[in-house]
Amino acid sequence: MTHLIGISGSLRQASFNTALLNAAIELAPPGCTLVAGSIRGIPLYDGDVEARDGIPEAVSALKDQIAQADGLILFTPEYNNGIPGVFKNAIDWLSRPNADIARVFGNKPVALCGASPGPFGTTLSQAAWLGVLRTLQTDFWSGGRLAVSRANTLVDEQGRLADEATRQRLAQFVAGFHAHVQRRTPA
Ligand SMILES: Cc1cc2nc3c(=O)[nH]c(=O)nc-3n(C[C@H](O)[C@H](O)[C@H](O)COP(=O)(O)O)c2cc1C
Repeated sequence: MTHLIGISGSLRQASFNTALLNAAIELAPPGCTLVAGSIRGIPLYDGDVEARDGIPEAVSALKDQIAQADGLILFTPEYNNGIPGVFKNAIDWLSRPNADIARVFGNKPVALCGASPGPFGTTLSQAAWLGVLRTLQTDFWSGGRLAVSRANTLVDEQGRLADEATRQRLAQFVAGFHAHVQRRTPA
């Protein structure tokens, strides 16, 4: 069994990226579990706070969840053609202290996808993540792409990804990442 963790980079109740994550959980292929990790409760990074109080509990817990998972999927929104500060801030905290990066992110299979109401579906924020994922020495999976545009037309009032074609693309994306992770994980 492969254990994946997915993180939505939005705190918004009706987030399209969280809807995408929730659909991915439903659509995970046989032999694969996908659970949601959360960035809620992670404070703004402050080096003085870190020096004084250490790593916040919400950060430590998520670090451990990522470290224990076989792979990580980031569901990223896009703000001003870049990475939303809320999400980048969370990953910055997760990369502390430096000496723990290898345990949490080192050689970790990571996939990237996202959803936005705009016409390009987070392609620019996904591109902006690449340098971050390289710096953290992850094993970035480039075998699939999923940038969901016009997301506001695809999610219903209950916050469920309702569009069948997008659900199929998502299922294919998760299955492709799962296959990549499986090739690396000893049975
Ligand atoms: C400050 C800000 C900047 C935004 N810039 C972009 C953008 O560059 N590209 C885009 O596709 N959507 C942009 N949006 C719209 C977001 O894609 C939209 O708010 C989306 O719902 C955010 O993701 P979520 O639904 O997961 O919260 C922006 C939204 C905000 C609040």
